[in-house]
Parts: sequence; structure tokens; C-alpha cells
Amino acid sequence: MIEKEKIEEIKRQTDIVAVISQYIKLRKVGKNYRALCPFHTEKDPSFYVNPDKGIFYCFGCKKGGNAITFLMEYEKLDFPAAVRRLAKNLGIEIDTTKGLKYKEIYEVNELACQFYSLCLTKEIGKKGQHYLNERKIDMTKLKDFRLGYAPGSGGLVTFMRQKGVSIEKLNKAGLISTSTSYRQMNREIFRDRLIFPIYNVSGRVIGFGGRGIDDYIKPKYLNSPETPLFKKGEVLYGLYQSKDNIRTKGEAILVEGYFDLLSLFQKGINNVCAPLGTSLTEKQAVLISRFSNKVNILFDGDLSGIKAALRAIGLLINAQVDVFVTSLPTGSDPDTFINQNGVDKLREVIDGAQDFFHFYKKAVKIDTVEQEVVLIKDLIQIISSIRDGIRYDRYLKYISRVFDIPIDTIMKEMASKKKTSVKSVRDFKITQEEKVMAMILNAREYFSLVKDFLKPEDFNEDGLKRLYNLLLRDKNFDIYDLSEVISETLREKLLSIIMKEEAVPKQAFLEALIRYKSGIEEKRIRSKISEAQVKGDEQARTKYFKQLNALKQKMLKIDLDKVTTDSDL
Ligand code: UTP
Ligand code: MN
Repeated sequence: MIEKEKIEEIKRQTDIVAVISQYIKLRKVGKNYRALCPFHTEKDPSFYVNPDKGIFYCFGCKKGGNAITFLMEYEKLDFPAAVRRLAKNLGIEIDTTKGLKYKEIYEVNELACQFYSLCLTKEIGKKGQHYLNERKIDMTKLKDFRLGYAPGSGGLVTFMRQKGVSIEKLNKAGLISTSTSYRQMNREIFRDRLIFPIYNVSGRVIGFGGRGIDDYIKPKYLNSPETPLFKKGEVLYGLYQSKDNIRTKGEAILVEGYFDLLSLFQKGINNVCAPLGTSLTEKQAVLISRFSNKVNILFDGDLSGIKAALRAIGLLINAQVDVFVTSLPTGSDPDTFINQNGVDKLREVIDGAQDFFHFYKKAVKIDTVEQEVVLIKDLIQIISSIRDGIRYDRYLKYISRVFDIPIDTIMKEMASKKKTSVKSVRDFKITQEEKVMAMILNAREYFSLVKDFLKPEDFNEDGLKRLYNLLLRDKNFDIYDLSEVISETLREKLLSIIMKEEAVPKQAFLEALIRYKSGIEEKRIRSKISEAQVKGDEQARTKYFKQLNALKQKMLKIDLDKVTTDSDL
């Protein structure tokens, strides 16, 4: 564990704008900074950073937090790793490495990776070596991929036992299945498969892909099940090994398969990455866009490859990358193409990639006017999310010219689409008590006033009660880290107010508190009044009415007193 004081010191010293600027371009607007949100795709920036409060918040997807949360989300780090990263930036030393939430799964994955690659070099892995030879894979050129072999007879569990890794951890890392059926118990997921370790962008192994060595093994490819670290739709195979090349070349080549990727990479086309057997997801598109704003799609030259390309185009354009598509002859994939025609020939084909517009138009079959209408609308939809003015304009003119449609008509169609496509924006209702809590969080310097005034019971919502209790213990309690005290939604709501609102001046602050408090008391008394009324207890009713009046008087007084006596606070 990292000491609390260290964390506080790191937080204090961290400049959130500097941290986030390492990843995305922030533009100053008033007191805040603004950018396109890195966590969802959007056309107009709704991601804000407030340097004074040290927080960020996206009004679109509602993600928010402090510099630590940002690193956790963006770099997929756990809390201690994110703190450590900040510490490193600041030159603050942190000694221990204990207490990582995901540390154990990382360690198990790393060990498994060692086991599988060891097997590949040994007698037991002969089959794997043979298979790689047959497929013309040169391991010496692919050291960073740490390919491996999972023996048909298993062995991982024994290996792990020797290393002191429990069955439970193996299960957590997605390496065995502990199904309830007796025969299937503690079954190793990968057997008699060639193993492709899957890395996250920081170069740690988070999961595995495995290809059956014999063709009768089903399924042909198998991936690790999802674990807290491994989410299939959020990683790209080969991105870690390719990312620097992608950056320097200014282009990423997107292929479909593991072998396509290795085949290209070992021949020097080393700016490649691949989704893991599913069609490209929005998250993967955003991930690529972090490394390059140009993507060349090089999928299989069959119908499913073309369909996959058509689907990917929209997502990539939406992530603001310029998209090109390379068409391969029907029946070949990049791997077979290289093996049949050589890498130079493939380079030629890649260099002749079409921009997505022409690919789209050619790929979609048009026999009827109706099909043409659909195609045009699809293209308009895709193009409407291009932010770069020049590219946007260029494609607009393409559509207009190619389909002989006036630009005005296209613009109108776009405008009508826009209204319906406010997809990821969620709205939530914010209650009075949430507003009060946000106000309190926003002005911690007045907390000593609040303390005398509000009790935990003055909040209705459980999350707010818990939070208030924590504040009573430590008025600087931080809700911006992914704390387990309050729900994600509550945290988002509070952040949304804190980001928008200025800290309230003291007088207004007190008035708001008093209004809130008297509101609660009033409600309590009023419910007693109606209770008395139901019971027909006239005496009690009068008593509570008196209380109500007294309350109102008192509140007015407190108001004035407080404001005048503590005004130097
Ligand atoms: P393909 O079926 O095109 O295989 O699947 P491939 O890449 O050409 O594989 P080889 O050359 O026959 O070995 C493309 C990708 O889809 C995923 C894998 O990631 C594969 O590389 N896939 C395929 C699966 O996840 N499961 C499967 O059963 C098949
Ligand atoms: Mn293939």
C-alpha cells in the first residue's frame, strides 16, 4: 500500500492539465480547458478540465474524476499504478509495490506466458514448432510476440502449483475453467494450441489467443475469457509491438487475423494491429486513433472481409481517423497473399489503397434506386461525423458529384440525422440534497460551519449519508478517485455540478444550507402535523404548528447571526 500522506502529497502537486495534455490536446476556455472526449466518440468537445479543482468531467459520457482516475481510465492502470505514474512525473519516490488490485492477475498471465513459450522451445512443443515452420513464421523476427504452445496434455496447472499459484488465481486470470461438471473441473482452457499472448498498450500480457494445431480442433481460434483485465473489444492484437512504428509512419494497417499480423510484421510491415476475432468496436477505433490519424484496412478478400471493412469504416471515421481500404483478391487474406506473391507485391497493393468513399461505393451492390438511396444515406451519415473541415468538404463534394445531388440537399439530410444521433449523452435528475452535497464539496473551507449544522440523517440517500459521514471524519475526503463509498452515478452527478458551478460565496453558501436544513425540518414537522390531523389530535397539531413557526423564526435569526459573527472565516 502507498501511504495516504504520500498520495495526498502527489495529488496536491499534480497539475491535471499537464497530465491530460500528455494524451490529448486541451484548449483553454475561460477557467477550464476543453477537448474532444477521449472516452467516447463525439464531434463537439464536451470534455472539460478544471485546473483549480483538479478534476475533469465529460458532459457527454459523464466520465469524470481527478488525475488519478484519468490515468486509470485512459491507461487502464489500477489505482496504485496510476498514483505511481504521477509520482514518477513529479520525481516523488514510492517504495513498496504491494496492494495492486490487478497485480496478481498480471503476474499469473506473465507466468503462463513464460510456461507456454517455454513449451514451444522444448520437446513437448515439437508440434507447435513444426506448425510454425509450415506456416512460414520466423520466430527470431517475432521475439516481442512471445509465441507459445499449450501442450495437449496440459501442464499449466502443475507448473503454476510449483510456482505457488492457486487454482482460484488461475481461474481469475481466465486460464482454467472451474465448471461444475465433475469431469471438466479445473480444465485448462488452452490445449494443443499455438499461443498468442495478448498485450495491453503498456506491454503487459492480459490474455491469450490460441489456434488449434490440428484442423479438426474446434473452434479454430480461442481467446481467453473476459477477466477484469481482458476485454476483447478493448484491445488490439499487436498494437503494443507496432505502436511506435504506427506513430512514426503516421498510419496503422488493420488486419483480421493473428497470422496476417505476424506474417506482415516479420516481413517488415510492422505498423499493424488486429481486433481479436470480433468486428471492430468503437473502443478499438478510439484506441487506434490515439496512435495515428490514418488507418488502412486490410481485411480478407472475401464477402465477410468486405462486410467487416464496411462496418469498421464508420467507427473509424467517427473516431476522426482518415480511412483507406486495401482490396485483396477474392479468396486470399494478407497472410496467404504474402506467401503466394511476396511482400513487395503486397506493399504495392497496400500503397494502392482507396479512400473509404470509393471503396464503399464500389463494395455496395446497387441494382435498384432504393439500394442507391440507402448507400447515399449511409455515406452521408459517415461523412457527417468528419471534423476536419477540408476532408469534410472534399467528401461532401464527392457525394454531390458522384451521385449528382445538390450540396444543399445533402446538408439538409445531415442536419436531420444530427438531431437523432445524440446517442451517448445521458441525462440524470439531480435532487436538492445532491445539489447541497455538491455545494459542500465545492467549498470545503466552510466545512466547519456545515458540521455544526447538518447531521448525516439530514440526507435521505444512503450514498450521501455515507459520504457525509466520511466528510465529518475528514473534510478533505476525495470523491474524485474511484471510491467505493458512493455509486458511480452519484459520483457522476456530483462531479457534473462541481464542474459547472463556481464555489459559492460564504453568505450564499450559508443561506443555502439554512434553506435546506429548514426545508428538512419543515417537512418533518409537517408530516407530524398531518399525522396529528389524521388522529384528530388537535392539541398536537397546534403544538407542531407552533414548532413550525418557531423554526422559521429561528432560521431567519441563525442566518443573520452566522453571517455576521463568522465573517472573517
Ligand atoms: P480467419 O478464419 O480468417 O482465420 O479468422 P485466419 O486468420 O485466416 O487463420 P488461419 O490462417 O486459418 O490460421 C480471422 C480471425 O478471426 C478470429 C481469429 O482472431 C482469427 O485470426 N477467429 C477465427 C476466432 O476468434 N475464432 C475462430 O474460430 C476463427
Ligand atoms: Mn489465414
